[in-house]
Amino acid sequence: MNDRQLLDMAREAAGNSYSPYSKFPVGAALECADGTIYTGCNIENAALGSTICAERVAVCKAVSEGQREFTRIAIWGESENYCMPCGACRQFLVEFSPDIEVLCSKAGGRYVSYPLSKLMPYSFNY
Ligand code: THU
Repeated sequence: MNDRQLLDMAREAAGNSYSPYSKFPVGAALECADGTIYTGCNIENAALGSTICAERVAVCKAVSEGQREFTRIAIWGESENYCMPCGACRQFLVEFSPDIEVLCSKAGGRYVSYPLSKLMPYSFNY
């Protein structure tokens, strides 16, 4: 699967976004080392802090199915700037795959790609 196809899966996943508060749907598509793809969308809550991002939904789905090694994650959001993963999602991803490739798109479909190690250096661990 190429980057574009993974981003398309993220865009499709955003269609299930529950985001009545921000009105900002986000989708994610997470590729596992064995090639399996798990998608996720943001799920908001009236208690705003209980909101969960699309990326963490995808990771939770994957880990709960026995996956622990990830190679790429595509993030889709119709924003003016590239839709980058928040700090909590970076920490969540680094737990399992510190070198995962992170694809971040913006409105119009352009995307950038970074190794997570560049987005999340000196992450917490003990
Ligand atoms: N959001 C994500 O799902 N992923 C990100 O990388 C950034 C932010 C969601 C959380 C919230 O539902 C909405 O975008 C606005 O912050």
